[in-house]
Amino acid sequence: MFSSNYTNRLFGRTRGRSKKKINLNNYYETVDKYKFKKFNEKIEYILDVGTGYGETSIFLAKQFQNKVVISCEKYIDGNINLLKNIEKNNINNILLHNGNVYNVLEISNKKYLSLVWIFFPDPWPKNRHSKRRLVTSDFLIKLHKILRENSEIYIATDSTIYVRFILNSIYKCKDYFNWVNQSEINLSIKDYFDIETKYYKKAINSLRKPSLFILRKL
Ligand SMILES: C[S@@+](CC[C@H](N)C(=O)[O-])C[C@H]1O[C@@H](n2cnc3c(N)ncnc32)[C@H](O)[C@@H]1O
Repeated sequence: MFSSNYTNRLFGRTRGRSKKKINLNNYYETVDKYKFKKFNEKIEYILDVGTGYGETSIFLAKQFQNKVVISCEKYIDGNINLLKNIEKNNINNILLHNGNVYNVLEISNKKYLSLVWIFFPDPWPKNRHSKRRLVTSDFLIKLHKILRENSEIYIATDSTIYVRFILNSIYKCKDYFNWVNQSEINLSIKDYFDIETKYYKKAINSLRKPSLFILRKL
């Protein structure tokens, strides 16, 4: 269903470091059950990008039970955790895209999204990897096209390099989004949401304070 000639490659790991054996047949069978295939005009969607172990998708699905969360992640160990928690919590409003978020953007031609979460995107701190960073102005403008009116994008990061990069991306698309919390980006994520993802915990344990950017579609 997805064309493979998209220019935006997906970097990073597909499996964890542990040598734990995974039955991939079982995995793909379960993924298939929850697979995101196409948009339905009658449904409002939340796009959750780079979900890692899936904590944000479970949180969003519980908070917004009348919407469908599209969880985008290619990391198999993380998706297994998400799928386990979907079943444990009897959640019926999460669909999984086991791959690149750009595949989802590629097949959406209407304003389907009412919220986008991007929690702790890979910062790619080395200069030579900077082109791998996800939160570019091009990416934000692509999201703008399929966001409903007044909808919001939430981006969290604990990387000072990425903060600067995101600021630059926001500046470049200032005609597309209002940066609603610009006077308070250093407030703790906990001031907004009661959620701890793996990378949130890593940041706190290393005494790094995550910043949260909230952008509202103009
Ligand atoms: C640093 S982890 C953060 C995971 C989780 N959000 C958290 O807060 O713990 C970033 C994740 O984004 C995923 N990712 C990176 N680029 C992506 C893309 N283009 N589409 C979907 N997922 C992506 C990676 O596979 C990785 O698991």
